[in-house]
Amino acid sequence: MFLKNCWYVAALKQELIDGRLLSRRLLGEHVLLFRGDSGQVFALNDRCPHRGALLSRGRLEGDAVRCMYHGIKFDGSGKCVQIPGQELIPPKLRVPHYPVIERGPFIWVWMGEAAKADPAHLVDLPYLHEPQWRGIPAYLHYDANYLLIVDNLSDFAHLAFVHTRTLGGSEEYAYVSKPTAIERLERGFRVERWHLNSDAPPFHQKVIQDKAAKVDRRNIATMLVPGIFTMETLFAPAGQGAQAGNVAGAREYRNCQFMTPETERTTHFFWSYLNNFEGEDNTISHSLLNSLIEGFMEDKAIIERQQVTLEEDPGFQPLAILADAPLVHFRRTLGKLIDAEQTPGA
Ligand code: FES
Ligand SMILES: [Fe+2]
Repeated sequence: MFLKNCWYVAALKQELIDGRLLSRRLLGEHVLLFRGDSGQVFALNDRCPHRGALLSRGRLEGDAVRCMYHGIKFDGSGKCVQIPGQELIPPKLRVPHYPVIERGPFIWVWMGEAAKADPAHLVDLPYLHEPQWRGIPAYLHYDANYLLIVDNLSDFAHLAFVHTRTLGGSEEYAYVSKPTAIERLERGFRVERWHLNSDAPPFHQKVIQDKAAKVDRRNIATMLVPGIFTMETLFAPAGQGAQAGNVAGAREYRNCQFMTPETERTTHFFWSYLNNFEGEDNTISHSLLNSLIEGFMEDKAIIERQQVTLEEDPGFQPLAILADAPLVHFRRTLGKLIDAEQTPGA
């Protein structure tokens, strides 16, 4: 059960190059994504309505795709435009299409009712298009339900134990820092957490000169349905009063992560980790990309095994601790939206 009337990241822009017909399963449906010769991106159901061949094994022709079984051709809206050897085109012979928005490095798709697809509902993340923010968009596949990844991102304490030597920096982080604010939002939550006078975590040390200098570290995370996560991270020189607003000399990051269900038990995970202090050569972005992959593999090992454990005993009831408040709120919010969407007449 997924929320359908909302935007999901379906692909990285760079995946749709060279006329590629990209076949990707989204929310259980097989979707064909392609960029037509005009430059526009299209998303169609990846099944020829004639005899069920995969359209992604067809041929790109302009802004249309030809099924390479019996040669029927469909335009980017899914309308049949040619049947070889037959004049009359039955109006019913068409492929469902999905609204698409291309923004920054990501291709977003609306999997619900096309008539409700409003670009205004797409969350605007300015750092994905503002030139001072630099990063390298990337993708990982998860053998786990997307909500287990959302859960993981809801509690920074895991940084201390899962990512001690990569993204976290110390176990101390879980003991001495606490969220200074947890806000319940209509479609998610916002959590702010400070860790004062700490060592810089390894991923940050790798890209700064003075590796031993103490820092005041602030993370502000926002999670929105269906699985849109951003985190604003700041490292300021310790003791200068960053918490009171003096952020002179601070280094900042913006973390954008998007969880899109592939199936009930698998997920497409897209991200871009941006910084605002590198020059033109991408050295810092490359280091951060490697650090992030290293960190995400640590999450992935835990979460994918958690998926197996939960599948082995569907009756298992997780027990909550205080730190679970954001994830509990998120799951409740999402559950209500899914219920409302599936209630006829709502
Ligand atoms: S199955 Fe596609 S043209 Fe026949
Ligand atoms: Fe993590």
